[in-house]
Amino acid sequence: MDDCCVDAADGADRYEPVFTGRFAERIARRYAKDGLTPPERRIVEFLADEVGVQGATVLEIGGGIGEIQIELIKRGASASVNLELSSAYEEVAGRVAAKAGTAHAMTRRIGVDLALHPEAVDVADVVILHRVVCCYPDATRLLAAAAGRARRVVVFTHPPRDPLTRLAAASGNLLMRLQRKAYRGYVHSPDAMVAVLEHRGFEARYRQRAGSWRVVGAVRA
Ligand SMILES: C[S@@+](CC[C@H](N)C(=O)[O-])C[C@H]1O[C@@H](n2cnc3c(N)ncnc32)[C@H](O)[C@@H]1O
Repeated sequence: MDDCCVDAADGADRYEPVFTGRFAERIARRYAKDGLTPPERRIVEFLADEVGVQGATVLEIGGGIGEIQIELIKRGASASVNLELSSAYEEVAGRVAAKAGTAHAMTRRIGVDLALHPEAVDVADVVILHRVVCCYPDATRLLAAAAGRARRVVVFTHPPRDPLTRLAAASGNLLMRLQRKAYRGYVHSPDAMVAVLEHRGFEARYRQRAGSWRVVGAVRA
C-alpha cells in the first residue's frame, strides 16, 4: 500500500505491534523515576511560562501515557484529550493519571486519526504532537489538521533531518520490513512542517533543541 494513504483501519496494525504495553510500562517507569524528558520539559515550560495554560484545554495527538498532559493540568490547564492509534497504553495511562490525581480532567480516545477526521475532534486551546510527526507518513496533513483544531498554539517535536538520523530511520525501517511490521519512521523536512503551520496563521516563535529532538512552538498570529 502507498504510505501516503494510511487510513484509520491501518492505525492499529501499524502502531500497536510497536507501541505496546511494554513500551508504555517503560515510559511510565522513566517518568516515575526522572519526571519529564528534556523535550517534554521544554514543551511544558514553553506552554506554561511563555504562552500560559491557566484554564486552557489541551489536545495531544499520540500522547502515549499522557505525562505531558498531567504536568500541564498540574500547572493550571483545565482538561486534556489524548488521541492514540495504539490501544496499548490505556491501562498504564489510567494508573499514572490516578497516581498524579489528574484523571478527572483527562479524556482518552483510541482510533481517531485526526489527519483523516479532523471534524471528529473538538477544538482546543493547545495542540501537542510529541514524537508523532516522525511516526506518521503525511506530516503535512497531520499538522494541517492540528492547526485547524488549535485555538492558540501548536507545539510539535521532530528529529533533525541530518544524515545520521536518516540512516537511523532507514535502518529501523529495514528492520521493520524484515519483521513484517507495517510501522515506518519518517524524517520529514522541518521547514516544510513549520510552513504548514505558518500558512494557517501560526507564527513559529519557539524553535529549540532538546537532546536529540527539536521543539517547535507556533502561536496563532
Ligand atoms: C513514538 S510514540 C510517542 C508517544 C508519546 N508521545 C511519547 O513521547 O511517549 C508515537 C505515538 O503516536 C501515535 N500516533 C501516530 N500517528 C497518530 C495519529 N495520527 N493520531 C494519534 N496518534 C498517532 C502512535 O500510536 C504512537 O503511540
